[in-house]
Amino acid sequence: MRPDPGVASENSMTAAATAAPVRRQIHPPPVAASPFPYNPGSLLSVQDLTLDAVSHLLARASVLENMDPLVRDRILLKRRVALLFYESSTRTRTSFELAAKGLGADTTLVSNLSSSIEKGETLKDTGLTLRALGAETIILRHNSSGAPWLLEETTHLPVLNAGDGMHEHPTQALLDLRTILAHLRPGIETVAEDTLAGVTVTITGDILHSRVARSNMLLLPRLGARVLLCGPAQFLPELATGAGPGISIERDFDAALRESQVVMMLRIQAERLAGQQIDLEQYKASYQLTGQRLATHAPSALVMHPGPIIRGLELTAGVADGSQSVILEQVRHGVAVRMAVVERALADSSTKAGRA
Ligand code: CP
Repeated sequence: MRPDPGVASENSMTAAATAAPVRRQIHPPPVAASPFPYNPGSLLSVQDLTLDAVSHLLARASVLENMDPLVRDRILLKRRVALLFYESSTRTRTSFELAAKGLGADTTLVSNLSSSIEKGETLKDTGLTLRALGAETIILRHNSSGAPWLLEETTHLPVLNAGDGMHEHPTQALLDLRTILAHLRPGIETVAEDTLAGVTVTITGDILHSRVARSNMLLLPRLGARVLLCGPAQFLPELATGAGPGISIERDFDAALRESQVVMMLRIQAERLAGQQIDLEQYKASYQLTGQRLATHAPSALVMHPGPIIRGLELTAGVADGSQSVILEQVRHGVAVRMAVVERALADSSTKAGRA
């Protein structure tokens, strides 16, 4: 228990007080335990999850995936899930929606392109409006890093981060992990600090702007994986070397491939380049994943990509459609993982605007 600063200071002054004039004690204001307590159902960052929590979500994803749909769709029957998307999305939005509907929830989509956000309504007011309409959880994609924290703090609802700016994409990291485990550690869902020991994952491309890279960098090394970051300085500043334990830079893509069991390709995020010019031919010569490069340096590595893929840029069409590609498997795993995450968000019904 935190000591009462006023009492402590009175006791320590007892001896000296005999000679000193009596002074009124000033009690400092109580210090809040935390700026704001997270809703237990929220998933804002992969860092919020213990490895036990990751294991539980992976195991629950499998249970839900294999459950009779007629039983499964009673789990969140008529619960209200809002999808609030300020950025385009195909995979994340659709899979969250299918996940929530697969559990029986009612969903509603609010997009910045077809809502009062276009008229200037703020994130705070949009969130409060969704809560007033009965939303019990909000799935948020936003172009500003940190937006899910603001929404959580404002609405006190469980908030699921569906990608915030260049910051994090926690459910993508979970579905990527599920995909990696399915191939490299089949049957394993309970993860520990050594589950991916001996596995090297190379992440190549526009790492600077990638929330997918960041969430994977925060999760995979905790399971013992080594993460190699690969790309030109423009997309991978040297300071990324200090990104965390188990993470290093390898600028030579072929050398990185030779060490990798998994290669995760990233798209160049043209929408975040802010006028920077890229020499695409030079980029492709150094970093495009081609069939020849893969066959020569990593003939058995898994090829992953969070999507959307740009065929002919970061990877060739042949690699995207080839036998080493698990890109569409990643998409499929997204539904199961997001069912577990949405269920977790609504598991504690006392969270329903209870702190409002
Ligand atoms: N991986 C991913 O976030 O894809 P979308 O942008 O299509 O949701």
